[in-house]
Amino acid sequence: MLTERVRAVKPSMTLAVIAKVRELKARGVKIFDFGAGEPDFNTADYIKAGAVAALEENFTRYTAAGGILELREAIAARIHKDNQLDYSPDQVIVTNGGKQSIYNALQTLAQNGDEVIIPSPYWVSYPEMVVLADAKPVIVQGSEENEFRVTAAQVEEALTPNTKVFIMNSPQNPTGTVYSREEIEALAQVFVKHGIHIISDEVYDKLRYNPEPHVSIAQISEEMKALTVLVNSLSKTYAMTGWRIGFGAGPKDIIKAMTKIQSQSTSGVNSITQKAALVALSSGDEIIAERTEEFRKRRDFTVKRINSIDGLSCFMPGGAFFLFLSVAGFMDKTFGDAKVTGSIEFATTLLEQKHVAVVPGIGFGAENYIRLSYATGMDDLEEGLNRLEQFLASAGI
Ligand SMILES: Cc1ncc(COP(=O)(O)O)c(C=O)c1O
Repeated sequence: MLTERVRAVKPSMTLAVIAKVRELKARGVKIFDFGAGEPDFNTADYIKAGAVAALEENFTRYTAAGGILELREAIAARIHKDNQLDYSPDQVIVTNGGKQSIYNALQTLAQNGDEVIIPSPYWVSYPEMVVLADAKPVIVQGSEENEFRVTAAQVEEALTPNTKVFIMNSPQNPTGTVYSREEIEALAQVFVKHGIHIISDEVYDKLRYNPEPHVSIAQISEEMKALTVLVNSLSKTYAMTGWRIGFGAGPKDIIKAMTKIQSQSTSGVNSITQKAALVALSSGDEIIAERTEEFRKRRDFTVKRINSIDGLSCFMPGGAFFLFLSVAGFMDKTFGDAKVTGSIEFATTLLEQKHVAVVPGIGFGAENYIRLSYATGMDDLEEGLNRLEQFLASAGI
């Protein structure tokens, strides 16, 4: 008999769509793929060279469970430079992507009877990771008028004596929304007043398109920093998704506990990956600026084009590489011989009829929406959006 815990975890709701994309691609069908959750760029050659050097030096053995010291030092230096926050290397853990930091932090901070507040729309894994910690996800809905942000007043209203953790994500997946410093300050006031821990997922911090600097909630005050586990990753920043490298930084006791979990489960991150990450963090950031500029061009093009399509609209998101679009006006409409009644059918029908892949909103807690990623080349963006427009027009509304 499987455990109650694992039975409570929902299977991925978007798996069917992803499987269909794979099947079509395997048959040689050209797909205009707006589904990507990762940059379409390759890992830079100088970073790859760091991995090759590690191999040649036989740096192929177990490392400390929390990561090699040089890398934890480089991460602390990076956070100091980017966020003006001081962490010692024993306040840093190197993890298998940012994902494992979030998982370890939830295992450390939440348990049976605890509530974890998650703003919606949310990244798909948050609620399920909360369930895996035997705790209860409490969803607070961000309104579209507010670019899907949740307000301090909304959060305060959702608090109960059992609230333990709030999951903050700015820039946000799936909406691209960035919280302003003022909004983060207002939230921090609530968290400090009630002693709520924050897991601050900042994996898109470098993919921002406005001049204001990125603000980590840990920067707001010493009290807030003492309640925060800052999570970041090299996945999106350096196009290193498959290498599996991220990190967490926070109070010593929390990081020590997260490291204990890691030492008794997965052990340290791949030794070669850690050396490559050290090269990435110790080199200049020109490559990030170049790629962010390319994403900005694509964002500007895509937002303008979406707003020219009848029945679609979107705001200009400040970060990440996603647009989150309402398709509510197309529900219960007929496309060819297919009637669409939800975001999964919408995505499947669009894929089948026009070979355009998007991600259904339901997995992010928002039915009647789709997520469109512009982490794809300009030519595909152009043709894919033309096809999306033709598809919507075929419903005749
Ligand atoms: C919001 C958010 N957090 C965390 C992650 C995890 O990324 P990784 O584990 O590759 O660092 C992702 C990946 O898609 C994400 O979108």
